[in-house]
Amino acid sequence: MSAPFYVQGAWFVGALLFIFGLKGMSSPASARKGIVIAGYGMLLAIAATFVIPGLQNLGLMALALVLGGGGAWFSAKKVKMTDMPQMVAIYNGMGGGAAAAIAAVEFAKGEMHGLVATTLAVLGALIGAVSFTGSCVAWAKLQGVLKKAYRLPAQNAVNVLLAIVAVGLGVTVIVLAPQQPELVIAFFVVALVLGLIVTLPIGGADMPVVISLFNAFTGLAVGFEGYVLGNPALIIAGIVVGAAGTLLTQLMAKAMNRPLSNILFTPMVASGPGEAISGTMKEVGAIDAAAMMRYASKVVIVPGYGMAVAHAQHKVWEMTSILEEAGVEVKFAIHPVAGRMPGHMNVLLAEAGVPYDKIFDLEEINGEFAQADVALVIGANDVVNPTARTDKTSPIYGMPILNADQAQNVIVIKRGKGTGYSGVENALFYTDNCRMLYGDAQPMAGEIIQHLKAMS
Ligand code: TAP
Repeated sequence: MSAPFYVQGAWFVGALLFIFGLKGMSSPASARKGIVIAGYGMLLAIAATFVIPGLQNLGLMALALVLGGGGAWFSAKKVKMTDMPQMVAIYNGMGGGAAAAIAAVEFAKGEMHGLVATTLAVLGALIGAVSFTGSCVAWAKLQGVLKKAYRLPAQNAVNVLLAIVAVGLGVTVIVLAPQQPELVIAFFVVALVLGLIVTLPIGGADMPVVISLFNAFTGLAVGFEGYVLGNPALIIAGIVVGAAGTLLTQLMAKAMNRPLSNILFTPMVASGPGEAISGTMKEVGAIDAAAMMRYASKVVIVPGYGMAVAHAQHKVWEMTSILEEAGVEVKFAIHPVAGRMPGHMNVLLAEAGVPYDKIFDLEEINGEFAQADVALVIGANDVVNPTARTDKTSPIYGMPILNADQAQNVIVIKRGKGTGYSGVENALFYTDNCRMLYGDAQPMAGEIIQHLKAMS
């Protein structure tokens, strides 16, 4: 059924709102506004769909909206910031699944006309189905439901074989469907299994990159199915998501200095015993840490995943304000993959009220560590590990790092001697200028605040 011009027009305006929304999301200052604008776009696109003349199953559509919208509202309100990556994974999977389902319904109706529409429907179904099961695995891994990576013997050969079978079945469906429903079913089954098999061996540390890749896939699948349905909002939204997901995937892979093929097909392990680390870890108390910062001219704070887990961002900002009142210059240094998802640290700091002009990216701040009296590392590890520069056997070799080791003094807040996400020892903690402040980031920041107040 083709939609009347006013519905098409509303879909188009909805798509424009998505683009304006995305533009807003390019800066933390306008991100909240951007997401609201995109939300209005979605609302308009949905409302317009309901007024297509002769539409059937309105009750079912409304029920789907209430169930889906209600579930999303409830889980979004409840989700902890640290659980956000798996939430993104599952919503992303739903998008891919929905795109595949659109193709399945169109095939079942037997109304697919023309080579272009059928080809795009099959492509969207293949990519959407892979994204659906792959994203479900990503969710299960990040949620801790699936605890290890499952690797088949000759895993990469199995991946290639399954991909060839899926594409072969897809081509056959294009040529013969809808006369052969069993072929369509076989095609969907193989595509769904392909998503599972490709994702199961990938370790948790690489999951955020995989989620971003599936995000790009989902966008593409939605765009293709938008063409099949003649819906410009779906086409534009799909292309925008596909492009954004592709750029983000590239950015993350670059920030970890690992080619995408390596992330997808090679497990993240050390290729040798690693460089010997000399020195000892030296402990410091909260009172001394407070004094070092209180009498410093410049302090650079490096937040990491541990700050997010500890919900320490509000205390960190309170500590920063006290230091600034005492005349200390304080800046925040954010590594592109600090935390567990892109922008994780920026969002947390913004939530706590840290002004954007105090937050600096790696390239902007790295030259300033050498002039800092103190680098305060809070719950970060891999992103300040200097062996990434020198140890060719390390799984993080080549990853650009924040130059915290170049500061006059380094204070590291962490609970114990645990390694970071990559599992490698951190040479920074053993250097002469580094002191360890052991404890949970939030109470430790609280103790520092008490001592700073006592010093003023
Ligand atoms: P990590 O290397 O994971 O280190 C976090 C540190 O925080 C741990 O060493 C841990 O030590 C400490 N910690 C945990 N809970 C804490 C708490 N409650 N209080 C204080 N400290 C706590 O984090 P990072 O430096 O942010 O690096 C991120 C890692 O994730 C990198 O390896 C990166 O490649 C990977 N990764 C990130 C992304 C994105 S997009 N962000 C994507 C893919 C991979 P203790 O256990 O001793 O406390």
